[in-house]
Amino acid sequence: MRDRYGLTRRGFLASAAALAAPSFAFGEKAPRAATESFNPDVDIELACRRDAVQILSGRPTSVWRYAGNLLKGPAQTLTALPDSYLGPLLRFTKGQKIRIRLRNELPEKTIAHWHGLHVPMDADGHPSAAIDPGQTYVYEFEMRNRASFNFYHPHTHEATATQVYHGLAGGIIVEDEDERALGLPTGEYEIPLILQDRSFDDGNQFAYWGGMHRDMFGFYGERILVNGRADHRIDVASRAYRLPILNASNARIYKLQWDDGTPLTAIGVDGGLLEKPETRPYVMLAPAERVDLWVDFSGRKIGSKLVMRSGEFDGLVPPMAQRMGGGGLIVGDDYPLFTVTVARETSDSPKLPQKLAAIKRHRPEDLANPDDPRPIAISMGHMSVMLNGRGYEHDNLLPIERVPVGTVQLFEIFHDHGGGGMRMGGMGMGMGMGRGMGMGGGMGGGMGMMGMMNMAHPIHLHGQPFEIVSRTYEGEDAEAYSTIRDGLIDSGLKDTVLVAPGERIRIAKPFEDFKGRFMYHCHNLEHEDMGMMREFSVE
Ligand code: C2O
Ligand code: CU
Ligand code: CU
Repeated sequence: MRDRYGLTRRGFLASAAALAAPSFAFGEKAPRAATESFNPDVDIELACRRDAVQILSGRPTSVWRYAGNLLKGPAQTLTALPDSYLGPLLRFTKGQKIRIRLRNELPEKTIAHWHGLHVPMDADGHPSAAIDPGQTYVYEFEMRNRASFNFYHPHTHEATATQVYHGLAGGIIVEDEDERALGLPTGEYEIPLILQDRSFDDGNQFAYWGGMHRDMFGFYGERILVNGRADHRIDVASRAYRLPILNASNARIYKLQWDDGTPLTAIGVDGGLLEKPETRPYVMLAPAERVDLWVDFSGRKIGSKLVMRSGEFDGLVPPMAQRMGGGGLIVGDDYPLFTVTVARETSDSPKLPQKLAAIKRHRPEDLANPDDPRPIAISMGHMSVMLNGRGYEHDNLLPIERVPVGTVQLFEIFHDHGGGGMRMGGMGMGMGMGRGMGMGGGMGGGMGMMGMMNMAHPIHLHGQPFEIVSRTYEGEDAEAYSTIRDGLIDSGLKDTVLVAPGERIRIAKPFEDFKGRFMYHCHNLEHEDMGMMREFSVE
């Protein structure tokens, strides 16, 4: 059965339930209202509503979108992306006091989350804060983040994937003095790019195909959209540019590389600038991750083209899931993302600074638990995805999920294949992960199932960004791993980290300023909605 935009069972049920009764009863609270004592520098209205946009030729596509309206603050706070369903680009400055009025004009519950921002719980978009159709939720917070490129999207219980898929997403640029002093490319020379994949039905509508496999492995669409547009093209001048890139796809992982072999120069990741630029042959970008690229087109001929592609890789997605969502765009194959054309000449290009920022590193003595990391164990079973052996529950904490405020905690994120102390990696990675290896391929019984289920997960923690302390590979398919390894940038501050099969990653994360409940979850949005999400109680 098809509903109003070819939505699925889950979205349909969620909206039907929202109209009938609250679909997820955390208690009936009135949505948060504006506080009189809060005197905002920036006051914006963000309506979530239905719309139709021209994406392909022919019939427009029905979408859900964030529509912004600036009530107070600098004009640059909101920039609409031309011809896009994506929400306006929000531009904030460190120290600003910000009020956002989220109005729900959709037929189901929703709540927005400011991914990457360090805000109090009541401004974080906790699923329990979701508002009904017709209601408004008021967020008020002060911008504590350093300059960085962030992501806003819904965080609705069991409906995040469908709501993002139908268009609710946008980018947030935070600026600060330190970054401004570097004189990096700005204005028309700074081009944020938001990557997503979608499938379309015959009537040009978003199709959310894949059923049970989609829920288990994530949705993979057959067309790439950049800033909401198909076959995206950018015209540039022959000079240096800054391209902050966000992967806002539900599940697809990209391996960014230029088609002519030019290496990539990264100047920042999720939490802002790196200490110094890093040059890589390619950069892996998992859902919700960001990379800030410095690209210098100086010296290129007018009319020359450069294509950003996603290159070939192995081992991150089970073979049975690689062709889902229509099958046109196989995960791990090589395909184009967008094309850049050098359209005009200029000679005013800035130089790449060799030193970008100072990042305060945590020493072992700064950590509350240097010898006893808190686990984030990833596991998948039959129709279930879990963290620390549990699905999502609000208000049912594990002891390791209680965190004292004002501490820096060490975490270890790993694949937990369960079963009698078996070390991870040994079984899963070696079996069934190679390209072209079928479901059956020489795998015996239960182990085979585990190998099949073994996949990469982008793990995200709300609140302050973290430092990656170590990343070790313990898997047995070094060849597959070698297709992604050089594209992992671990030197900067992160809020989302891709955990490939066979990897064990340690992170140091501060929990300063705010008490309350903060989510941690897989940012494969189908996994998030399937319950691969838990919460910390910072107390
Ligand atoms: Cu971008 Cu909890 O999410
Ligand atoms: Cu987040
Ligand atoms: Cu996952």
